[in-house]
Amino acid sequence: MTENLIELGKKNAAIKAVEENIKKNMIVGIGSGSTVVYAVERLGEINKEKAMNIKCIPSSFQAYQLIIQNGLELVSLEQYSEIDIDIDGADEIDKDLNLIKGGGGCLVQEKIIASNSKELIIIVDFRKNSKILGTNWKRGIPIEVIPMAYFPLMNKLIKIDGNPVLRMARSKSGPLITDNGNFIIDVDFGEIKKPQELNLKLLNIPGIVDTGLFIDMTSKVYVGLEDGNVLTLPK
Ligand code: A5P
Repeated sequence: MTENLIELGKKNAAIKAVEENIKKNMIVGIGSGSTVVYAVERLGEINKEKAMNIKCIPSSFQAYQLIIQNGLELVSLEQYSEIDIDIDGADEIDKDLNLIKGGGGCLVQEKIIASNSKELIIIVDFRKNSKILGTNWKRGIPIEVIPMAYFPLMNKLIKIDGNPVLRMARSKSGPLITDNGNFIIDVDFGEIKKPQELNLKLLNIPGIVDTGLFIDMTSKVYVGLEDGNVLTLPK
């Protein structure tokens, strides 16, 4: 039952976000994860129905496949380095619309797409809406790292009060390898009261490529609620 409500929440948020924000001839960044699937499906439908000439830039192999499967036009940052709107999911949002992302391991590409977009629209279900990051999302902040640095990085992350876990692949013995050939360390810092400070501290450590903390990037969040409504959180 709860599982159905979660899926309904994701779907409702995704559909509303697409219908309210997508206009003709837009360049659209496509995030990754299970919620984005619903957004790309709706995008494919309205693009066809209304001949909208939408062009999409993927943030992952998953997003690339979704764009193709839904009959949308695939383009790249080389062709369009300014994206009109980016639609993406998140693992958790706080009261200032800061995010934890990277549960699906695509945080680096997702942050590149978001940082080159005029607007970042986030779609989530009711479980993700927190006041403080680290409240509901207990798997830690995903951090993409250069493989040769992973071991000393684990020690450094412990020294700054993190609890790091090297993310392992599912059907392979060994670590998960990102689309960029790197590792991911998930670091639990408990409740994160100063996400910007923590992000800067992490980005300063050599070997860390980027973090799943998206600070002050979000334009608007659509939260799919348990009762079927969608809550909109503006910046
Ligand atoms: C992918 O790396 C992530 O940032 C996802 O956007 C995030 O984990 C949300 O995924 P779901 O929509 O599957 O919850």
